[in-house]
Amino acid sequence: MLILGIESSCDETGAAIIKDGRYLLSNVVASQAEIHDRYGGVVPEVASRQQLATIIPVIEMAFDQAECGWENIDAVAATYGPGLAGSLLVGLTVGKAMAMAHNLPFLGVNHLEAHIYANWLRGKIEAASKETEDSDWEYQEGDPIFPSMCLVISGAHSELVLARDHGQYELLGRTRDDAAGEAFDKVARILGLSYPGGPAIQKAAQHAQEELEQQGKSAKAVQRGGANVELLAASFQEAVVDVLAVKTRLAAQEYHVKQVVLAGGVAANVNLRARLERELRPLNIRLKYPAIEYCTDNAAMIASAAFFHLLRGEQHGLNLDVEPGLSLPFSKK
Ligand code: KG4
Ligand code: ZN
Repeated sequence: MLILGIESSCDETGAAIIKDGRYLLSNVVASQAEIHDRYGGVVPEVASRQQLATIIPVIEMAFDQAECGWENIDAVAATYGPGLAGSLLVGLTVGKAMAMAHNLPFLGVNHLEAHIYANWLRGKIEAASKETEDSDWEYQEGDPIFPSMCLVISGAHSELVLARDHGQYELLGRTRDDAAGEAFDKVARILGLSYPGGPAIQKAAQHAQEELEQQGKSAKAVQRGGANVELLAASFQEAVVDVLAVKTRLAAQEYHVKQVVLAGGVAANVNLRARLERELRPLNIRLKYPAIEYCTDNAAMIASAAFFHLLRGEQHGLNLDVEPGLSLPFSKK
């Protein structure tokens, strides 16, 4: 099954063509980060207008790169929440209109669930192997296993979620204030680093670490002598990584899962990945995370999540509206 996925929830415009929920034929992302950098964060009004300007060229590029046409597509999927209303409207409306024009099934996708499904993506395949298989629920080598402890950490969400099966989520805990990504972005702004804050802080922190290693000093010893931006970035990052890693490990132990799955933009953080690896390996719990480029917003993950819904026979009517405050579909304990 070939699905055209569309993502426009915030400041990235994405279109991707994915085979059988896992294999990439194309994945195009246009980022507005440079435009929002001067404001230190996303300006919603600017973001939605940029979405409008880029969405059609991005979809055309996705078809070009996949070397296929509408005759190959089996369904269209677009994010309907959570996110910025004006940005969401662009992708959702274009997706519905295209599904209608080509008489294809349409599915609205929950952006947070899609971040989890980024873990199903395998990377690019040759455009020649476009024939789809008779896919079903069969586990395929490399798929995440259930139950999994999911740490969903994006710009607006920090949640620990137990995934018992496809579509079956239990909320175990969430942040009481800012999400991890938002904290990275705000601290970066205060320190005068660029937007988005996560990669900027990771880079600054790495400089500090390398310098300290060269000088044979510890971060604490230098901090007493006066703080600098790189050292502050390093200790902030360490504090975030510490709390996320320890809580995730405790939850994984309590629920006896064999796998922890990372999802969302902050899952791109290399220090977090390394620290969790160290926490989980002695316990024989596997850590799974998407390739860096699928951690932040993209349409490949939207098409992947859509695939597993479509297999269950689900689809949406063309009256589907955006839901800026949408959460994961949690079931009661
Ligand atoms: O998932 P995402 O692309 O968008 C939302 O759905 O919110 O996440 C964006 C967030 C931003 O706050 C960004 O600073 C953060 O992910 N981020 C990172 C890294 N790369 C992106 N945070 C920490 N370390 C990174 N390497
Ligand atoms: Zn996201």
